[in-house]
This record gives sequence, structure tokens and C-alpha cells, in this order.
Amino acid sequence: MVLLRSFSVLVISEEAKKLYEIFDSIGITLRKTNKTKASSSADFSTYDIAFVDIDAEGWEKRLTELKQYMPVITFGKSDIKKVVKSMKLGATDFLQKPLKNDSVKEIFENFKDKPKIEIEGLIGKSRTMEDVYCGIRKAALTDSNVLITGETGSGKELVARAIHKLSERRENPFIVINCSAIPDTLLESELFGFEKGAFTGANYTKKGLVEWAHRGTLFFDEIGDVSPLFQTKILRVIQEGEFIRIGGSHPIKVDVRFITATNKDLTKACKEGIFREDLFYRLNVIHIEIPPLRNRKEDIPSLIEFFIKKHSSKRKDVTIKGITEEALDVLMNYSFPGNVRELENIIERAIAFTNSVEITIKDLPDYLLKTQHSKKTLLGPLREAVDTFEKELIWSALQKSRGNISRAAELLGIHRQQLQRKLKQFKIAT
Ligand SMILES: Nc1ncnc2c1ncn2[C@@H]1O[C@H](COP(=O)(O)OP(=O)(O)OP(=O)(O)O)[C@@H](O)[C@H]1O
Ligand SMILES: [Mg+2]
Repeated sequence: MVLLRSFSVLVISEEAKKLYEIFDSIGITLRKTNKTKASSSADFSTYDIAFVDIDAEGWEKRLTELKQYMPVITFGKSDIKKVVKSMKLGATDFLQKPLKNDSVKEIFENFKDKPKIEIEGLIGKSRTMEDVYCGIRKAALTDSNVLITGETGSGKELVARAIHKLSERRENPFIVINCSAIPDTLLESELFGFEKGAFTGANYTKKGLVEWAHRGTLFFDEIGDVSPLFQTKILRVIQEGEFIRIGGSHPIKVDVRFITATNKDLTKACKEGIFREDLFYRLNVIHIEIPPLRNRKEDIPSLIEFFIKKHSSKRKDVTIKGITEEALDVLMNYSFPGNVRELENIIERAIAFTNSVEITIKDLPDYLLKTQHSKKTLLGPLREAVDTFEKELIWSALQKSRGNISRAAELLGIHRQQLQRKLKQFKIAT
């Protein structure tokens, strides 16, 4: 079997040379290795996969660090205790020494179509999504506050849930607060609760959402839309880790991790004086930016496949198996202002409408077909417009050449090296 991808491999072992020989003999092209210099954590994100020798000193620390960036394969003599420990620490697979060509080859075959780091429930293997997965892993290993930014429907809540699920707080509550849905008049009672007798009608003690989230994660959604009062109130909880119920006389301590999300530009809001800078710094310890779907179109086919599987059971009469090339083409050329949520809605609707086992162009909403014909108006700076246009062209050339870079370069009338530079610049994965 021919391996279609080249890999960037990080090897942590005294016997690295042996591994490189195996890579060579099974025909794997190494795009980047650490043959020449020890890598700093800054460039870990450029590797696809790591091999860590568990017979070497300090392998546990290396494995824990590297697994945030890429799948880690451990290898060593068959010391069962160490093997189990490496799996517990997050190794993806284990290979026994002496290494055999076939078992190494199998590892690469398994990984060639997979994103570097998979996060349950999140689909997409574009380079930019891999950065998001790295951010999730990092955030899950710490207790720092996280700010997630991204356009509407891009997956902010999904990412927040993934961080919670992977963190040590996973067994405890994940509480979502939709900030824009709480009016200032109800703010304190919703967030902090009240004591019995605090006001007329308060004939029981009520816990607030912050208290419910104790030992867990509190997710403030749409934080960019909150009032100055809201900002002041939550700043105190975040800073002090405590609050007072309405009518209460003493502060209550809570252990909560805060994750916030917004589609607003908070730096700009701070400059305009709409958002408190001190609160912004508290929230923005780890920042995860989710790219809009139109900038990672390579994720569209796998998202469609995922949503077809997710929603096809709603049709009892037919089993929807896929989508026609023509319909896929229409979706690939659409800009998705509503991002992944919009794509999911389109697929769900098409499943309900279709008369065949495949989603066809007729099952797509009319507005999609209209935008295909109307000339696109590119607003914004010229450079951005040119970049978008270039990306579209490169993307369709890669589609036509089924990922073959030389052929795509030929179609575009440029040199292969030039195309490779562009792919790197635009972070397009092949
Ligand atoms: N990478 C992804 N893989 C699978 N499903 C996704 C992905 N991203 C988003 N979705 C789905 O798209 C929908 C919207 O996601 P989510 O609610 O997390 O977006 P959001 O950014 O919080 O949106 P809003 O800004 O409107 O609150 C959900 O049904 C979610 O499951
Ligand atoms: Mg949301």
C-alpha cells in the first residue's frame, strides 16, 4: 500500500536512528524530524506524530507534554507496568522492541486520514481546527479561565463542553449561563441565589447558578453583551472566589472554573469603554479562537458526513447514504455566515425533504443556489479579498487533483514550491 502523506515526526529516543531506518524502508516521506536539533515546545505544533522511548529517562514528562500537541506512540521493552502507565498518561499506542516494519507502518496507515488530535464530538481536520484542539487540550490540563471567540454557530459551546469533559472537573457540573437572557433585575438572584426571608415572597432559600457550579465549570455564553452591572458582579466572584446570597450575611466560597464565549471583539469593546479591562484580563488567560467555516472549507465534507449520520434516523422510509457531487459543490462554494450550525440545519432539512438516498441539489434551500449565481461582493480590504479569492482557487484545484499538489500546481499554472508556500500561508491541509 502506498502511503499518501508525508509526516513530520518527533522521535525521543537514544535509538532514534533505528526508527529512521524503518521509516525509510517502509517508504514514509519525512517532512520534518528532530534529527538535527532538540525541539522547543514552540515548534511542537508543527509535528504530526511523536515516538517516545519508554526505556529512556524522563519519558513520563515528555509524554505528558507532547500529547497536548500530537498523538504519541510509545515504544520499549515489554515492561507491562510501564506500558499500562504510558496508556494511562495518554499514549495513543504502544510498540514493542525490537520494532518491526509492519507495526510501524500500521501506525502511519491509521493516522494518515486523521487529524493530529481528536476531540470527541468535534469534527474537522483542517490545520486551523488542529490549533483549536491543541488549545482545548492545554486548557483541560490547567484550571485557568478560558475565553472562546468565534462567529455565531462556529462551535463555541461545543468547545467549552469539550474542555470541561477533558478536565479534572468532568465529574462535576457544567453550568451554562446565557448572559444576554438574564435581565439586570434578576441578575443577583439568578447568579447568587437568596436567603429565606430576603424579600417578600422569598419563603425558601434558593441556590444561585454560581453555587450550583461548585467544583465544576461555569460557562458564560455571550459575555460580550452583558451590562456594566453584570460585569461588576462577576468580576468579584472571579477575583475572590466568593459571593453573598441576597439577604445573606456572610460570603460563600466557591471553587469554579470560568469559561466565557463571545462573537464580539472584546479588545475593541475595552477600548470603547463598553467592557471592563480588568474583567477582560481575568477571563482571557487562555484564548481559543474558532475559525469561521468559510476559512476551513476542507472540513465541510466530513461535517456533512457526520450530520447525515446524526440526522438520517429521522427518516423511517429511506436510509440517506450521502450527497451528490453537484450538491456538495454548491455547499463548498457557499460562505456560511451561520457557520457549522447553518450547515447542520441545511443537512437536517435536506434529509427531511429528499426523495432519494442521496441529498441532491434540489434538496438544498433556494437561497444557496441563488448566491451561486449572483456575483460575490467582496467587502473589506483589498488584500483580504485577494487572499479569499486565491484560497478559493487553490481549494478547487486541490479538489480537482484529489489532493495531488503537483497536479494542482499545474492546473493553477504555478510551480509546485510556490503552491506549497501558499498552502502554508493559508494553513490549508492536504
Ligand atoms: N466542529 C464541529 N463538529 C461537529 N459539530 C459541530 C462543530 N462545530 C459546531 N457544531 C455543531 O453546530 C452547532 C452550533 O455549535 P455551538 O452551539 O457550539 O456554536 P456557538 O459558537 O456556541 O454558536 P452561537 O454563537 O450561536 O452561540 C451545534 O449543533 C454543534 O453541535
Ligand atoms: Mg453558543
